[in-house]
Amino acid sequence: MAFKNHSSRTVISSSSSTSLRFTTFITLALIFCSSYYIFFSQSFDYSPVTSSPANPSYARDLRDLAFPWNKLSFGPISKKLKLAVFCKSWPVGSIPGGMERHAHALYTSLASRGHEIHVFTVSSDRSNREEYYNKGDLHIYFSPNQHGSLNCSQAFEIFQRINGVDHYFDYVHTESVSLPHWRAKMVPNGDVAVTWHGIWYEIMHSKLFQELYYSNDHLSSDLQQTMPRLVDEIRFFPSYKHHICISNSAHEVLVNIYQLPKRNVHVIVNGVDHTKFVYSPESGVRFRAKHGVPHSNGADIVMGVSGRLVRDKGHPLLYEAFALIVKTYPQVYLLVAGSGPWAKRYAELGANVRVLGALEPEELSGFYNALDVFVNPTLRPQGLDLTIIEAMQCGKPVVTPNYPSIVGTVVVDERFGYTFSPNVRSLVETLDSVVRDGSRVLEMKGKACKEYALSMFKATQMASAYERFFMCMKNERYCWYPLSTDN
Ligand SMILES: *[C@@H]1O[C@H](CO)[C@@H](O)[C@H](O)[C@H]1NC(C)=O
Repeated sequence: MAFKNHSSRTVISSSSSTSLRFTTFITLALIFCSSYYIFFSQSFDYSPVTSSPANPSYARDLRDLAFPWNKLSFGPISKKLKLAVFCKSWPVGSIPGGMERHAHALYTSLASRGHEIHVFTVSSDRSNREEYYNKGDLHIYFSPNQHGSLNCSQAFEIFQRINGVDHYFDYVHTESVSLPHWRAKMVPNGDVAVTWHGIWYEIMHSKLFQELYYSNDHLSSDLQQTMPRLVDEIRFFPSYKHHICISNSAHEVLVNIYQLPKRNVHVIVNGVDHTKFVYSPESGVRFRAKHGVPHSNGADIVMGVSGRLVRDKGHPLLYEAFALIVKTYPQVYLLVAGSGPWAKRYAELGANVRVLGALEPEELSGFYNALDVFVNPTLRPQGLDLTIIEAMQCGKPVVTPNYPSIVGTVVVDERFGYTFSPNVRSLVETLDSVVRDGSRVLEMKGKACKEYALSMFKATQMASAYERFFMCMKNERYCWYPLSTDN
């Protein structure tokens, strides 16, 4: 009897979960179809070259911009701000992730301009230590809980204490949900801006691609959780007043799908230090010599990939594609920088692959310069991979998936490289055209990349854009562009 009960329950639950999966899948499909419709039916200004700050027709309120603030050239600001920042962690020791690098680059720069910055965070080495230190106007508070992640109630208590000292904070900034939405509501006047480094809508996109690439007979259980989480996210996003996206496509999703007021959604793309990532053929030659890569004789093509060598960064995809390409073209090489489980697999591919291990930060620029083309095979369409921007600043063209965040903001045109759909056939076809184009064409594309990257993705430009954004939040006069101090 017990057995029978048990088996009939199993049947019911498995059939209802099949239909649930089916519904989830259909809904996902609908969402993506509608999103593509939206992406293609909008006429946003993606062009990297048409916006000329010198053109008086660009005089406007910055809150109405439909392209990245980074494109404009902001002059110096003499007023000083007092800002509070919530960030999941602050880089200490290890090579930091994208969000940490963003916060670190941005706030060291703003503090160096004389703004008073208070960062509530924890140390990225998970040391669990409580600490306060300051470097000039940059004040850092580590408030970890026993697991080493941010104890938000403690951080918020310190925030409130400092808020009363001298004068009130001009604005509060959170890197993603470091300051949770229900706490954001407790900030006086709701003066909170959030920078999204990846939204759930894009994460669903990732999950869809991963599902399709690693397709088994059954859907992964993960997919069933995606729709409820999206609904949840859309419901809590309005708890934050202003939203900063790091790509044009995320901007469109927040306006069109999350239905946030257009004037409260802004694009400020990430920047990287253009003095660290520089075009230098000599450093490339040195790097090749050090790692035993053949000198370029015009016929060889050296491709490179970097980052954490894990599955969802798309390494199985590149592994498969490169194994095929190298059979057709024995003069193609792949340099693999980084560490992770896929290092071993790449090494199996033989003499055309050099696995370099994790590089020191100061070696990275030499690495990019040693390449003819940089490949980023990621299966995660969210955010903006800084490696693509670093490679472009070093004057290298890129091979990337054709995700909206990338084609709408970074590889906006084929002058900058090659894009593919996240499957082996498409990547092989793309690598094939890279090799057939040859090093001369790649060099030309690389030059175009460098120019574009220097016009859009400099860390200093990002800092100026945020500075102006916070000024605009404090005083509407600064929302106007250009001011007499702008150039
Ligand atoms: C967070 O900090 C508060 C003190 O502000 C403390 O009472 C609480 O136990 C801490 N929580 C954790 C999980 O460490």
